[in-house]
Amino acid sequence: MKTALAPDLRAFMSVALRRQGVVGAIAPSSPSLARALTAVVPTSGTPVVVELGPGTGSISEAIRERLSPGARHLAVEIEPDLVTHLRRTKPWMETIHGDAADLGALLARAGVDRVDAVVSTLPWSLFPGRRQERILGEVGRVLAPTGAFTTVTYLHAVPLAGARALRRRLRSAFDEVLTTGPVWRNLPPGMAYVCRRPVAGV
Ligand SMILES: C[S@@+](CC[C@H](N)C(=O)[O-])C[C@H]1O[C@@H](n2cnc3c(N)ncnc32)[C@H](O)[C@@H]1O
Repeated sequence: MKTALAPDLRAFMSVALRRQGVVGAIAPSSPSLARALTAVVPTSGTPVVVELGPGTGSISEAIRERLSPGARHLAVEIEPDLVTHLRRTKPWMETIHGDAADLGALLARAGVDRVDAVVSTLPWSLFPGRRQERILGEVGRVLAPTGAFTTVTYLHAVPLAGARALRRRLRSAFDEVLTTGPVWRNLPPGMAYVCRRPVAGV
């Protein structure tokens, strides 16, 4: 019997099963989580929005819904198969093949030096502390003073040492770190961190 998985889900599962050490999730984010993460994306003007770890694009669609014509939407993805999938299925987005740890250089190559919102679903728990700090530093350097950075944490992981360490790093990197309410309609349930005003020199 043939399975009728949607193309995005099929692509996600195919990479996630082979590369769990890079993807770090069992399913794509739900529309509810995508809405919580993308509420910081300006709905007017011509902002520059960057997505880190777009996967098969479940967050990308929510970003696109908020953007007006003339805005830029760049997405940095490290997995080559997912980059190919995104370029084919979401040609309206500027998909960059690269590592979020090199964000500043990747954006400079794309002619971008200031970003209004950065939305991340990177698998933080898979990264050593130094790598987390490097990525947060890169985000802080490209974010406009009025910009915002959002990222996700899963509810079951909140009490764990790794998640506590990430929270500490977020609080060192940003002057304001807020959390949204729980998003139950996601596998697994999660919530978003909303961070503003990067601390200089982190
Ligand atoms: C948890 S999945 C999220 C996928 C999708 N955005 C979603 O919410 O369903 C994490 C994604 O981050 C990508 N990724 C992991 N490390 C990365 C890095 N250093 N730079 C850019 N992307 C990375 C993975 O390949 C994967 O697509």
